[in-house]
Amino acid sequence: MNPLTLTVLYYSATGTNHAMAQEAAREGERQGARVRLRQVAELAPEAAIAMNAAWQAHRAATRHVEVATLEDLQAADCLMVSMPTRFGGIPAQMKQFLDQAGPLWATGKLVNKAVSAMSSAQNPHGGQEATLLSFYTVMWHWGAIVVAPGYTDPTFIAAGGNPYGVSTVAVEGGRLKPETVAAVQAQTRRLLQVGGWIRDGASQGAP
Ligand SMILES: Cc1cc2nc3c(=O)[nH]c(=O)nc-3n(C[C@H](O)[C@H](O)[C@H](O)COP(=O)(O)O)c2cc1C
Repeated sequence: MNPLTLTVLYYSATGTNHAMAQEAAREGERQGARVRLRQVAELAPEAAIAMNAAWQAHRAATRHVEVATLEDLQAADCLMVSMPTRFGGIPAQMKQFLDQAGPLWATGKLVNKAVSAMSSAQNPHGGQEATLLSFYTVMWHWGAIVVAPGYTDPTFIAAGGNPYGVSTVAVEGGRLKPETVAAVQAQTRRLLQVGGWIRDGASQGAP
């Protein structure tokens, strides 16, 4: 059987979600997936970025990361998304990318993709759960299959117990706590496991 294709899609202004996405990508590679690590395009004006030293530094340090295209969505058996909260919702940069997926949605190309998501906020309860739920609403409109962590692994509880997706507070320099790293790895493995079941079931003609 061909390896699964895992697209790890993220938006990050100051590095937290980039670090989470990198951990997911590394775990995907360890599990034998074909991994595409992609950032969504930045929409903020350079003048706004320049007013925040951490944002500016992170942007400069990650210019080499490929910017996501719709083909990265279409090719994915499994999609892992990481994004910070913006007032309890999806960042505009991520939403703009998702909103370009209309043609894929209209032709059924996003149906049955296995999808999972992660988030961060400045505060421990600053909107991570709401952000994940609003992201998953988009996925349900696509007909994608949401693979949330639930409490299926002890690492999810150790990382804060968010059953919708691993989440964290923003971390300076992208230095994640070991509990967060372990939970991101477990969430990635669960996504690949379920994504494999979906792909293999579909190839056997399951409904
Ligand atoms: C416009 C805006 C709105 C935000 N809203 C919230 C919020 O409601 N609650 C919160 O705790 N943090 C909020 N934050 C902080 C971000 O979530 C935090 O900077 C982010 O999680 C860091 O992730 P990153 O390092 O990947 O960019 C907001 C930040 C911005 C720029």
